[in-house]
Amino acid sequence: MLGRVARQRHMTANLCNPRPWWRLIIQTRRTFSAFNAPSNHRFTHIPHIHLAKRNPHVIPDRKTRMAPSHPQSLSTSASHAAESKTPDWSAQQYLKFGDERTRPVHDLVAQVLPLIGRPNPRIYDLGCGPGNSTEVLADAFPGTNIKGMDSSPDMLRKANATFKSRDGAQARAVTFEEGNLETYLPDEGADLLFSNAVFHWLRSPKRIPALIRLLETLKPGGVLAFQVPDNYDEPSHSSMRAVALQPSQPWSSSFSSSHIGNLSNSARPDLDPIESPSTFYKALIPYCQSVNLWRTQYQHVLSDHKSIVEWVKGTGLQPYLNRIDEGTGEAKKSFLHEYERVLTDEYETIGVGGGEEKVLLQYPRLFVVAVRK
Ligand SMILES: C[S@@+](CC[C@H](N)C(=O)[O-])C[C@H]1O[C@@H](n2cnc3c(N)ncnc32)[C@H](O)[C@@H]1O
Repeated sequence: MLGRVARQRHMTANLCNPRPWWRLIIQTRRTFSAFNAPSNHRFTHIPHIHLAKRNPHVIPDRKTRMAPSHPQSLSTSASHAAESKTPDWSAQQYLKFGDERTRPVHDLVAQVLPLIGRPNPRIYDLGCGPGNSTEVLADAFPGTNIKGMDSSPDMLRKANATFKSRDGAQARAVTFEEGNLETYLPDEGADLLFSNAVFHWLRSPKRIPALIRLLETLKPGGVLAFQVPDNYDEPSHSSMRAVALQPSQPWSSSFSSSHIGNLSNSARPDLDPIESPSTFYKALIPYCQSVNLWRTQYQHVLSDHKSIVEWVKGTGLQPYLNRIDEGTGEAKKSFLHEYERVLTDEYETIGVGGGEEKVLLQYPRLFVVAVRK
């Protein structure tokens, strides 16, 4: 949570840097609901899709790596039923920017490599997606056993297909399974639990408990390494919230009770902001001999503003699009059109000669490498 000085800086920054009215509303909502939350529990949690499947307080069964089934409350079942209609991820859309999305995997693996001394380490790729991060791990640790886990059938289909086409030994060493990071337990004593761009999909009250549960499965010297985008306040994401909340638009009714920006309501389409580095450090260090953290702001060079829309369509914009009631069939189209228009105001167009233009997509990411004690 922000301290008083940070809060003052945040408010001063807002005053010195005038924003359109809707940006101020979004930021103010975030600030107030975060500060009003109980100090040990930054956000009140309401079960959503994955939580609905299991009681988070039940200790998972190590054999099945899942919590035992438990009678669900009516509201939990109802929210599960409603959310089970949510469309799956699209590996194809995600991989439109595969190189850019995989770059932090290389940066994280570079820090992890010197820490894994044992030959044939046992590695998990948690939230492996279409297998792009798994491929980097397989190249960095040739022939070793890697298990990729993900909750998306489409991502797992693509991951399996990717490894089928690799040579026999490599393909055999890498396996994939469906699972939910909120409750998943790897076998005891893995050498590396790796996770690129996944933990931000967990609601904040679930995030650190899941990390600690994973850490606890490691032996001394075992490594938990993860990276999360830290872009809640980036224009790409604040503009999603703002456009969704514009009144009298074809999509407005789809968001009238969506609680966008209200961090105490987990049914909303916006993901939770990422905790500060010190919050992660304080939570993980009691279990670790070292916790190495760093934050990088990538500058992805894209062709135009439409490319930003295509980028987030594969990730953070999807929960918004899933909500838009098609009605006449125009609502989604006009939402995307307006979102792109707003991005055009937010991101500078840079001429690079020969009539060509580029746009820089700033993308802050937080990295953590924790070594178990
Ligand atoms: C942004 S992709 C990251 C894919 C890959 N690791 C990479 O480096 O590009 C996020 C992945 O996390 C998965 N995911 C999201 N929430 C999850 C959860 N609770 N349990 C397991 N996987 C989850 C999604 O299905 C998706 O494949």
